[in-house]
Amino acid sequence: MNDSSKTRLEQAQQEGKYIRRIRSFVKREGRLTKGQAAAIEKCWPTMGLEHSQGLLNLSEVFGNDNDVVLEIGFGMGKSLVEMAKNAPHLNFIGIEVHKPGVGACLMEADEAGITNLRVFEHDAVEVLADCIKDASLSTMQLFFPDPWHKKRHHKRRIVQLEFVESLRSKLKIGGIFHMATDWENYAEHMLEVMNAAPGYDNLSETSDYMPRPNNRPLTKFEQRGHRLGHGVWDLMFKRCN
Ligand SMILES: C[S@@+](CC[C@H](N)C(=O)[O-])C[C@H]1O[C@@H](n2cnc3c(N)ncnc32)[C@H](O)[C@@H]1O
Repeated sequence: MNDSSKTRLEQAQQEGKYIRRIRSFVKREGRLTKGQAAAIEKCWPTMGLEHSQGLLNLSEVFGNDNDVVLEIGFGMGKSLVEMAKNAPHLNFIGIEVHKPGVGACLMEADEAGITNLRVFEHDAVEVLADCIKDASLSTMQLFFPDPWHKKRHHKRRIVQLEFVESLRSKLKIGGIFHMATDWENYAEHMLEVMNAAPGYDNLSETSDYMPRPNNRPLTKFEQRGHRLGHGVWDLMFKRCN
């Protein structure tokens, strides 16, 4: 967004006008299974976080000062729960807009008996802006975001300069932003955006992509990509200032 459209947007917001932002998702009202509904009812009081709570005190949320990993768009949450289970010394926050995904994630988390995971059912862009303190996260994960294949839809891709700049402000210095995609054109777009964003170092020795890290479990969308014969591109950037 350029300066003059930013000013116009701010003016309109001050006047109380409703401005519709371009969103990275289309809300699908999928039905909850009984298990998902039961898991939300049982686990929400301990694991659910609300956007309306405002800025979070992470030490209070988790009852400790462990490093916090935040994942955007966790889908059904299987790989997020596996990561949280494998790393009890870390805290995890997942953000997803699709309610059945949130239910499925809480079901998995309940079965796994983990206590180091909290979830939001909300737009990650708003959660980052309103609920996460600056320089508070050690890692941000964005795995297989919706690729918005058609050129005229590329503006809906969540990876845009403004978004990655907002992510950087939430990372601690030295914190890592890890992305993965099975869509080559989106991988190229991610690289282009990150190369234009100040304050990040690419951890790739070849200044582009990274070998697949062992600690990233196979996600549902990655499996689908494999079936379709797609490649996978991992990108990792460190906040350097
Ligand atoms: C293609 S799926 C990938 C899911 C999962 N990461 C995986 O690899 O299996 C992308 C997910 O991101 C979610 N999503 C898209 N934009 C979002 C946003 N702004 N905030 C939260 N979730 C979002 C969608 O609802 C969807 O579940």
